[in-house]
Amino acid sequence: MIESDRPREIVLGVSGGIAAYKSCEVLRRLREAGHHVQVVATRSALEFIGAATFEALSGRPVMTGVFENVHDVEHVALGRRAELVLLVPATADLLARMTQGRADDLLTSTLLTARCPVLAVPAMHTEMWEHPATVDNVATLRRRGTVVLEPASGRLTGADTGPGRLPEPPEIAEFARLLLEWGASTSAGGTEPFPLPRDLEGRRVVVSAGGTAEPLDPVRTLGNRSSGRQGYALARVAAQRGADVTLVAGTIADLDPPAAVDLRRVQTTREMRDAVLDASKAADVVVMAAAVSDFRPTALSAGKIKKGEEPPSIPLEFNPDILRELVTEDVPRRLVVGFAAETGDEHGSVLDYGRAKLERKGCDLLVVNAVGAGKAFEMEDNEGWLLGADGSSMSLPMGSKAALAARVWDAVAERLP
Ligand SMILES: Cc1cc2nc3c(=O)[nH]c(=O)nc-3n(C[C@H](O)[C@H](O)[C@H](O)COP(=O)(O)O)c2cc1C
Repeated sequence: MIESDRPREIVLGVSGGIAAYKSCEVLRRLREAGHHVQVVATRSALEFIGAATFEALSGRPVMTGVFENVHDVEHVALGRRAELVLLVPATADLLARMTQGRADDLLTSTLLTARCPVLAVPAMHTEMWEHPATVDNVATLRRRGTVVLEPASGRLTGADTGPGRLPEPPEIAEFARLLLEWGASTSAGGTEPFPLPRDLEGRRVVVSAGGTAEPLDPVRTLGNRSSGRQGYALARVAAQRGADVTLVAGTIADLDPPAAVDLRRVQTTREMRDAVLDASKAADVVVMAAAVSDFRPTALSAGKIKKGEEPPSIPLEFNPDILRELVTEDVPRRLVVGFAAETGDEHGSVLDYGRAKLERKGCDLLVVNAVGAGKAFEMEDNEGWLLGADGSSMSLPMGSKAALAARVWDAVAERLP
């Protein structure tokens, strides 16, 4: 376990929106990660979900009003104890009350006393989300340091769709972990920037993720192993830092589409090349986190290749080098970040191979991961180095893929004009 993953004291604030039922899944995930969770529900929230569900999942009584347990002065004690306050969902009403600094129930009182990171996850109808009152409230809360996530677009309560949907619980849990990791590094005396500043607002970003699969015949493919988790984390973090994000994903694990991201799915390296180059035309930054297949069969067999007596020999040809094309393409200058999954050998270390790749490809930044048994692929956590074309080199410590993504975006933001 990473030091920052030790059990924490978390207040899960639930307000009265239809998405309140998804807070149960977030609660379950926080408990499975070993954290202590106190649910503080608004009165409206309890119209949607019974206290029994929260109490069974958290192992603690649900709290709502300031006049419960008065001898413990809970409206002050809870906020002081909390290492993270997570609001799932945050209604338009709760955002408004927070903006005004009201303390008319236990949740808003706790928010005024808490000095830990606050992560608000709004969910509401598009009209409510886009109303100037809500837009102003969100801007005010962000200015004061509350992390207010962008909602997802998609199916809302009824048949209507649009921005305002709660991001999926695994994504919320990922951001909660990110804030806890950062809390740990700042309390250790570091001067780390907050992981989700709005420093990519107005920037267009393209991220590729996952592997690619080259069909050999109607049933078999030649592919690269990659869960897509690192690329998805990069896209998620960029979107929550305000960027306009296109995510081009090849073959991936079972991942939910990130909130507030334009997701395009592809299968082969050539499809990925076309989608990335197309989306990159107006981009400020392109991050190639995908592990694409460098080769493809010269011919696609129309029928299934039969097993026969001998294993078949399948001639291969090179796929396009997307990173190289991005760097040499005749378009206005944009920042290009590559990824290198390397293994060391007797000729050089992982870092030596990374430096050589950076020079060969000519990108601005290169994230180097050591891969092999139990490293990087399909894991929740990642570590590596970030190498710059300017000769810089930074270690990316072991942590969540979202934390690694936040450090990469810090480096990108520093280099953007
Ligand atoms: C069926 C139903 C669904 C609702 N869904 C939402 C919602 O998704 N988001 C929201 O901001 N308000 C929603 N509301 C309105 C809130 O419940 C209402 O504003 C309430 O005062 C919120 O109180 P609270 O912020 O103290 O929890 C909904 C109301 C009803 C009756």
